[in-house]
Amino acid sequence: MNIPFVKLSAAIAVGLLSLNATAADVRFPVDMPKPKEGQLVHVPPTMDDLEKSQLHPELKRVIRRGHDLFMNTQQLRGKNVFNNMNCSSCHMGEGRLPFAGPVWPAAVTLPDFRPKNNHVNNLEERIAGCFSYSMNGTPPAYGSDDMLALSAYHQWLAKGVEMYPSAPIYGRGYPKLNDPQQKPDYKRGKQVYEAKCSLCHSNDGSGLVQNGKVVFPAVWGDNSYNWGAGIARTFTLAAFVKHNMPLGQRGTLSDQEAWDVAYYIDTQERPQDPRYTGNVKETRAKYDATFHKATNYGLTVNGKLLGDHDNTGSKPFLKPEALKPRTFTAE
Ligand code: HEC
Ligand code: HEC
Repeated sequence: MNIPFVKLSAAIAVGLLSLNATAADVRFPVDMPKPKEGQLVHVPPTMDDLEKSQLHPELKRVIRRGHDLFMNTQQLRGKNVFNNMNCSSCHMGEGRLPFAGPVWPAAVTLPDFRPKNNHVNNLEERIAGCFSYSMNGTPPAYGSDDMLALSAYHQWLAKGVEMYPSAPIYGRGYPKLNDPQQKPDYKRGKQVYEAKCSLCHSNDGSGLVQNGKVVFPAVWGDNSYNWGAGIARTFTLAAFVKHNMPLGQRGTLSDQEAWDVAYYIDTQERPQDPRYTGNVKETRAKYDATFHKATNYGLTVNGKLLGDHDNTGSKPFLKPEALKPRTFTAE
């Protein structure tokens, strides 16, 4: 355990982390794009607001548990989570921040039809999606304590927003950047990565785990999200990076740098897409229209066919039960 010290010291030296700081403690400068005319702007309540609220003490207990699971999803490691992610690794600011995948919109826009799985999804199923792909795992059972707690946390964050709002939601997801001026490039992306990211995420993309605690999550490799995750799409990753990375310096990369570094990360290996049919080209073709047209999965980059393997990371199975197709059969 000697390398981590060097890395952490470096992070401290550039003033991003204080000695005992956890990732969540790092401050965010507020320099996000301003809301546009007609957009729905919502500032979700905080955990302090929860304590002060009049909600039933038992409901508060459930929401607290949901928040705790969201921030430290690693407590479900080996059961539901098989990589180094917490929900908060990608949904910054406790899932509350615009441009950082705020999670509350799901609570007011679902149930709805989702092209990714071709049927009507509710909030639990949407959460299950991030467990299956982003966490390279399998969701807690629908209706279980953990699923109830996570959904309750999402719904609490949406407090006061009307159901099915017609106005577009400010900062929802990771709003897409303008198309890059130059085609995203591996070499330029590598340069950005090594100058601005590898300090924390390491040269081989594996991040940093210290004393069993994930300090910096893996951006590729066995402990990262799998090939089916939403952020594996280059445009989603570019937008995430532009608005949220480097940690503590959001918004400092040019759009081109964000596209380049996203392309670089998206040409590295990661666990297999759980929808894998046994043939990567076939899987790509099957999900090309709805998903893989935006990833490098099943393409040959630098002489390597990406995603051509059976590696599921530390997950001992390929496809979670929750991903089975579903048809609404009632008339
Ligand atoms: C590796 C990154 C990553 C991790 C980890 C992750 N997510 Fe997500 N999540 C995404 C992406 C990407 C989207 C899609 C955003 C978009 O559509 O632009 C998303 C979308 C969502 C949405 C829908 C938000 C909306 O606007 O409707 C919810 C809810 C959600 N995630 C919950 C979770 C939960 C709960 C966890 C932990 C169990 C989690 N996510 C872990 C990347 C991640
Ligand atoms: C100072 C350390 C630091 C630097 C520098 C940094 N990150 Fe991160 N990154 C983090 C942390 C910590 C998280 C998880 C968010 C949280 O827990 O608050 C994260 C999350 C991520 C994620 C989502 C989770 C995952 O592992 O895939 C991506 C992608 C990412 N960073 C990419 C980048 C890129 C690209 C750069 C360089 C432009 C960069 N980061 C620079 C610390 C850093």
